[in-house]
Amino acid sequence: MNAIPSVKLIDGKATSARVLAEVREEVLALREHGIQPGLAVVLVGSDPASQVYVRNKVLRAEEVGIRSLEHKLPADTGESALLQLIAELNDDPAVNGILVQLPLPGHIDENRVLQAIDPLKDVDGFHSENVGGLSQGRDVLTPCTPAGCMRLLHDTCGDLSGKHAVVIGRSNIVGKPMAALLLKAHCTVTVVHSRSANLRELCRQADIVVAAVGKPRLVDASWLKPGAVVIDVGINRIDEDGRSKLVGDVDFDSALAQAAAITPVPGGVGPMTIAYLMKNTLAAARLQRAGATAE
Ligand code: GUN
Repeated sequence: MNAIPSVKLIDGKATSARVLAEVREEVLALREHGIQPGLAVVLVGSDPASQVYVRNKVLRAEEVGIRSLEHKLPADTGESALLQLIAELNDDPAVNGILVQLPLPGHIDENRVLQAIDPLKDVDGFHSENVGGLSQGRDVLTPCTPAGCMRLLHDTCGDLSGKHAVVIGRSNIVGKPMAALLLKAHCTVTVVHSRSANLRELCRQADIVVAAVGKPRLVDASWLKPGAVVIDVGINRIDEDGRSKLVGDVDFDSALAQAAAITPVPGGVGPMTIAYLMKNTLAAARLQRAGATAE
């Protein structure tokens, strides 16, 4: 049997369980001082995928001892009503983190809503103050998926200094913050996207590949340098062999032949996102406490 012993599976389920256990321990310690971090999750409309994500976030919060406050609003909610709710959550001392599930219905200006969230409660790290802080390399609330990817990379590779990382995708949620975090970790960073020329050749130069484009199995062995570490952020639902299944942006079976280590889909990056949301909520509670005692 020709197994592939050198390839290491990067287990996001196990790592996220460790992160959640750390958070739970710290939350319990805070609760002994009478402080319980609170997370408000806002969902507008009834998109089925968003409903699942929100339910999982609320469940996970409860598991680690964070109080979760769910706000489900109808799809025809006006922008001003949503902004009013955010203003109330900003002013509520029991709320340490505010997450507005994206995407929002088309009649609502997403940017205006994200900018309305108090930057100290912005557990998604999407407010321009946090985006700017991250690009300056400051310690700010950081988008959860890229933060989770960094933890997987550090656990797998140790020091990332001098490594060449190629990020495929330039979204505000993953690609851009991922590039900023890799730079902060002293990597040489290349960001490629759908308009890049020679995508595959650029990718073949990478020590680290982070795929976040939403194209099922785009990256196969021919895109990878032998020994590359591959982080697959994609979650794509496809129909194959008469079944519906989840696949990443990486052709996992093909990539195994070249990669030193790779995340599976599911069970790789996905569970890390929620774990880092909990970590950010705890961090936000601490930031607000530090701010309150400094005043
Ligand atoms: N929709 C898809 N990913 C995310 C995320 O990380 N945060 C929020 N708020 N919405 C999302």
